[in-house]
Amino acid sequence: MRVVLGVGGGIAAYKAASLLRLFTEAGHDVTAVPTEAALAFVGKATWEALSGKPVRTSVFEAVETVNHVRLGHEADLIVVAPATADLLARAAGGHADDLLTNALLMARCPVLMAPAMHTEMWRHPATQANVATLRARGVHVLDPAEGRLTGRDSGPGRLPEPEVIFAAALALAARPSTDDGARSPEEGPLAGRRVLLSAGGTREPIDPVRFLGNRSSGKQGVALARAAQEAGASVTLVAAHLEVEPPAGIEVIRVETAIELRDAMIERAPSADALIMSAAVADFRPAHRQASKIKKRDDAPDSPIELVRNPDILAELVLLRNAAGGRQVIVGFAAETGDDGADVLEYGRAKLERKGCELLVVNEVGTDRVFGLDENSVTILAKDGSEPEHVAGSKDEVAGAVVRRLARELAAR
Ligand code: CTP
Repeated sequence: MRVVLGVGGGIAAYKAASLLRLFTEAGHDVTAVPTEAALAFVGKATWEALSGKPVRTSVFEAVETVNHVRLGHEADLIVVAPATADLLARAAGGHADDLLTNALLMARCPVLMAPAMHTEMWRHPATQANVATLRARGVHVLDPAEGRLTGRDSGPGRLPEPEVIFAAALALAARPSTDDGARSPEEGPLAGRRVLLSAGGTREPIDPVRFLGNRSSGKQGVALARAAQEAGASVTLVAAHLEVEPPAGIEVIRVETAIELRDAMIERAPSADALIMSAAVADFRPAHRQASKIKKRDDAPDSPIELVRNPDILAELVLLRNAAGGRQVIVGFAAETGDDGADVLEYGRAKLERKGCELLVVNEVGTDRVFGLDENSVTILAKDGSEPEHVAGSKDEVAGAVVRRLARELAAR
């Protein structure tokens, strides 16, 4: 396979040298195309020695070979690692100001980008919008890994390990693709299926300025929506409060409260093949929404908010499906902490039984775990009693595993 390895100007450029090695040792032909800024971190000699080829960064070198056209045209796969915030912006904007961006514009092969930058840059709306644009065009943008960054800071922004990028690149290259370089949804494991999923945290109004909410960021649900879309499904996302943008090209219905979320799900459930409840739904809501702000007057009651139970939407969806004799596959999520009485998986199994869904994705949560992070570690439990499947990795990787399990379940019906 002819691989173009684009290297952005970030300190993680040194890891791209190991990535190059993995490709060449597996017998692939690699052309390294660093940006000028990348050469400030790792010099030309390293790339030339490891790839066995001359290294160029500009369209004005080797002009006689029309290199800027040829590289992208002839590539079977382009991998960009590290993809810096600037490189993502240039690629999303369709710029062609160096050899690598020219190759990206010319390419019709699969493109994988592995971002690496400081957490603030990764989370910046500009970067997130660029990533969403690239993903909507079929570019496979990995989520950065979490951990120690260049300085004393840590968080999401690390370049995933070269082995992880290598495996993702090979998997991407092995997928069927269309002429325009985008993956072919018609051939994915969920092709022709309709997936309805909920994500994010509900907010229950107390008065005009306050609400009861939770710490869900919606990242896992959005990753699921993306994975289902990439697997060929037509996806409807019922979105409670999200901290990330949903992928382009899917239907998004915005809701705030548990009741609104239930209504949206129940209205659309009959036409879906699979339902996924990944939203963090408040179990209780204030019995009354105060029309004006609650004031702390001396004569106010000590505990001014009375709570009432919210419906269990997942259980209702299962009941409705059963009553209609439907063959939908229903997936629930369980956030568990474990305690003296039972461990996380025991609680998960009991919940699977109680809710009556086909699959339950169980994860262990706590104040320092899962919420808002880019990594996740889950166990997928199935009603049919098959072996639990443990998955640890980025939320995209977890989403991919859930979607594959869901596709198997649908195929078996
Ligand atoms: N869920 C739901 N409606 C609710 C609460 C939760 O549909 N009112 C769904 C969630 O979307 C998730 C699953 O039920 O798919 C498990 O949610 P969780 O809050 O972990 O479980 P609970 O049913 O609230 O059980 P417990 O409080 O005993 O842990």
